[in-house]
Amino acid sequence: MTNRLTLSEQFFRDQASANASGGLSTVLNRFSLAGRMLASEIMRAGFVGKLGYTGTINVQDENVRALDVISNETIIQVFENIPMVSGIASEEMEDVHLLPGCDNGKYVISCDPLDGSGNVDVAGQMGTIFGIYRRLSTSGPPTLADFLQPGRNLVAAGYVLYGPCTMMVYTAGGPVNGFTLDRSIGTFFLTHPDLQIPEGCGNYSINEANEKKWDDKTAAMVRAFRQQETQCGKRSARYAGALVGDFHRTLLKGGIYMYPGEIKKPEGKLRLLYENAPLAFVCERAGGAATNGKQRILDITPSKLHERTPLYLGSKGDVAEVMRRLA
Ligand code: F6P
Ligand code: MN
Repeated sequence: MTNRLTLSEQFFRDQASANASGGLSTVLNRFSLAGRMLASEIMRAGFVGKLGYTGTINVQDENVRALDVISNETIIQVFENIPMVSGIASEEMEDVHLLPGCDNGKYVISCDPLDGSGNVDVAGQMGTIFGIYRRLSTSGPPTLADFLQPGRNLVAAGYVLYGPCTMMVYTAGGPVNGFTLDRSIGTFFLTHPDLQIPEGCGNYSINEANEKKWDDKTAAMVRAFRQQETQCGKRSARYAGALVGDFHRTLLKGGIYMYPGEIKKPEGKLRLLYENAPLAFVCERAGGAATNGKQRILDITPSKLHERTPLYLGSKGDVAEVMRRLA
């Protein structure tokens, strides 16, 4: 019988190689638990009337879906009694959520509990994105500054992808490893060790219906990809409309994911703290690159929790081409 490495075994390896105390593996373990719980919720949502909207609007001015609420509550629930985590910044909550009795927890986490929830009703891909930071303050409740750290300070980051199979992909600063959930026993097994983003192949991924909103350089740059006139190679188009799904494909197949800024909205759509920075961390550790068009994503210090930045994320050659064409 082949010896399959489980996610928990990998956590212990990461912990040993980082000479860490064990707290980090517990935090990662809780994300894997949340991932398994949400995979189950998503699979059953259609049977139990949990598809569709709640009728409310969230802090981002987006219509809230039942599964958005369930996902956020699940994340809070799994971290409620974990003393090493002191607070959560989530897409679904205007302010930081402080965990009770965890004044001294040394980590803070950022999370998009259900990315791509627009795909709920069509059985499309969705995901949970997470980042884990060491807090800067040393006692008492965490401060806003503990959360507003640049992505290069991430201790670990990753995502859970809900699709035909459920996968958890993360890095604790070393290799990027991908695990697939064996639903029958509720365990993630290592299926994609040491992921490296391929160069010179793959897709470009962008919502091209936004073309009229872009400045001339952005429009010309995207046109070059569409017309297969890029120096980094010819790219075909793919867009799932769920960042985690689009990034996961880019990580495995190569190419680039783009969400540009717009003339009337130069900051674009995606959020730095719990979307762009964690995925940029994974992408860089897999040999890729991530920029907002001007600056490396991991070097940007957020000035507020829900700050948005443009995002160009993928293999080094493709990101370099974007930078050249936007310069
Ligand atoms: O979380 C934001 C998000 O839903 C991403 O998952 C997705 O990539 C993007 O928005 C899709 O945006 P649009 O519908 O504008 O293409
Ligand atoms: Mn999202």
